[in-house]
Amino acid sequence: MTGNRLSSKHLNELIASRRAVLRGLAGLPLLNLAACATAPQPVPAEMGFASVPATNADTVTLPLGYRWRKLIAWGDGLFETVSADFDPDALTRAEQEQRFGQNNDMLAWFAADYAFPPPADSDRLILCANNEYASLELAYPSLGNPRETTAAQIEALYTAVGVTVVDIVRDGDGWRVVRGAALGQGHNRRITPFTPVQFTGPAARHPWVIAAARAVNAAEPDRSGGRAQLDAVRCGTAANCAGGLTPWGTYLTAEENFDGLFVGRERDATVREALQDDAYALDANSFGYVAGAPFPDTHFPRQFRLAENPHGPALYGWITEIDPYDPHSTPKKRTSLGRKKNECATTALAADGRVAVYMGDDQRNEHVYKFISRGRFDPDNRAANMNLLSDGDLYAAQFLEDGVGRWLHLTVEAANAAAQAADSPIRFRDEADLMVRVREAARQMGATPMDRPEDIEALRDAHWRGSGSVLIACTNNSERGFHRSGNPRRESDRPHTAQNNLAGHVLRLDEANGDSAAMAFRWDVFAMGGDPNAENATATTRGGALVHVSTKVAGKQTIDGDRFACPDNLLVDSSQRVWITTDGGDNVFADCNDCVVVTSARTAAPRPVKRFLVGPLGAEICGPLMAPDERAFFCAVQHPGANDAAGLEFSQTRWSGAAAPSHFPDGGDSWPRSAVIVVTRDDGGRIGD
Ligand code: FEO
Ligand code: CA
Ligand code: CA
Repeated sequence: MTGNRLSSKHLNELIASRRAVLRGLAGLPLLNLAACATAPQPVPAEMGFASVPATNADTVTLPLGYRWRKLIAWGDGLFETVSADFDPDALTRAEQEQRFGQNNDMLAWFAADYAFPPPADSDRLILCANNEYASLELAYPSLGNPRETTAAQIEALYTAVGVTVVDIVRDGDGWRVVRGAALGQGHNRRITPFTPVQFTGPAARHPWVIAAARAVNAAEPDRSGGRAQLDAVRCGTAANCAGGLTPWGTYLTAEENFDGLFVGRERDATVREALQDDAYALDANSFGYVAGAPFPDTHFPRQFRLAENPHGPALYGWITEIDPYDPHSTPKKRTSLGRKKNECATTALAADGRVAVYMGDDQRNEHVYKFISRGRFDPDNRAANMNLLSDGDLYAAQFLEDGVGRWLHLTVEAANAAAQAADSPIRFRDEADLMVRVREAARQMGATPMDRPEDIEALRDAHWRGSGSVLIACTNNSERGFHRSGNPRRESDRPHTAQNNLAGHVLRLDEANGDSAAMAFRWDVFAMGGDPNAENATATTRGGALVHVSTKVAGKQTIDGDRFACPDNLLVDSSQRVWITTDGGDNVFADCNDCVVVTSARTAAPRPVKRFLVGPLGAEICGPLMAPDERAFFCAVQHPGANDAAGLEFSQTRWSGAAAPSHFPDGGDSWPRSAVIVVTRDDGGRIGD
């Protein structure tokens, strides 16, 4: 998703009006073209399933011969110490610390016993799941009015955000969750916005971070029993959208829409004073964290009130690294990777063993980034890799005409020189300042403003070596009615009509020499969202806007088969089939809930697209993941019931008495819960064949 204010804020991207309501309530000198990777050879796609028709059904709809069931849902106990039953009306912070979080997003697995390369088959896994944000309208079923929400209930909802780590096993009944004996025993744990974390890299010493860390630790007592490191900051992680994983067996969680965690107004004296600093004013404007809420500010934990902690937002927007093998490990914020609305953090090994991390900043007209570690991955020494992400170089992507592009090295000197040349007053004091305000550095240096880059996947071999091919989901852009390199606009019967990009697209980037550490690349449009059967057509969104949905670019059809819109998360399986989940696709094509479609990276355009799964009403689908043997497909069904089939937001209808639009996953008249599901074939075969 795209929102995490404790109401229903859907943030930066107002794709029509969906979930966008109620902020409160709710020249290429080094490019060697000849050395770039060659285009993929056309081979037949292997997609043996029958395409699923469009539907607004309030369930998971699959091809014939497939079945789904819930693996774990919001509120399910992680430990024997909590009841197997979950009463969402009785949620407390203490309970939520032992139960699966809300609004699950990215999923990743780690073999129960670390091995490199990861095993191609394993019956015991550690599952990591992001819990992106909390929805008040999808919590506390008995609550009649948001103004009656208590401070304790709000604190419990903060606890529903972060990361869940949980053991899963496959036995005769398929994949299931293993509850731990008690908190601190086994791998199971919750990491919340209150968990002690450490800051590494240059921004750990940034004055905003230092000031905010003090405020947080004054507000949130040390509950670790003395185990937490002295420099730990009890700000945990939050707004966890997608992420990635490393070859040394750690989980990377990407902090995205952290603005929604905070409450504050310009009239607050502390905020007003902070806004005197131009850098802070620019930051607050860029991220949008100075905003009110529908409850008294005193209902919010103190560290999330800007009046008491104006620099609190500097503690979020990072990539946070978690060791899932050690339930007592302290998560590390990797500030060398820059602060932004991180959608993802996808790793691939360069030819020389350095680690490349690809990241998208999911806000309209923000950028795509790549970090390259200074050190090299050592496959024989896990411990030696644990701090590889604390030191390296950061780059932003510049897409140029003619399908070429380059990585811009973000340094203090280069950013200041670019700003000076452009007569901009912006300057960066040091590397810490650059990392905290990396968006501005990328902008000054000419990084390409993108159509909301969401998930990025790098094609890798079994030894984590990147092939240099990278796919980038650009979910949509409701603004900017003109083409920009890497961000095409559709062909139209009115070609001079300015159009936005509400249906989104997937970009392909091929690194020079097939090396993830390259400084130049080629790019192409991998797939346009839209309807391949609609030549120049427009569709009308639920919000009444006209959307161009042709999937042709530059006279070339990009896809064939099923329509889709708003690509969000990606998965590339071992056959290079590309699994695309959507978020907000139902706003463009109202007759179908958000879904999963499949295409192939091995096939030339027009690439065949088949709809594999349709989610329940009001949900976006996140976290596509294959079991090691690819005989089970997992995904995260996020915010079922957030809207009804007509597109009406539950955040607006609930308080006037409307029933929940969804009863997923438990059915009947049950309260909707975000959930991880597992999809298998009736015959036990490989998913997608
Ligand atoms: Fe959390 Fe950009 O989706
Ligand atoms: Ca997302
Ligand atoms: Ca999204």
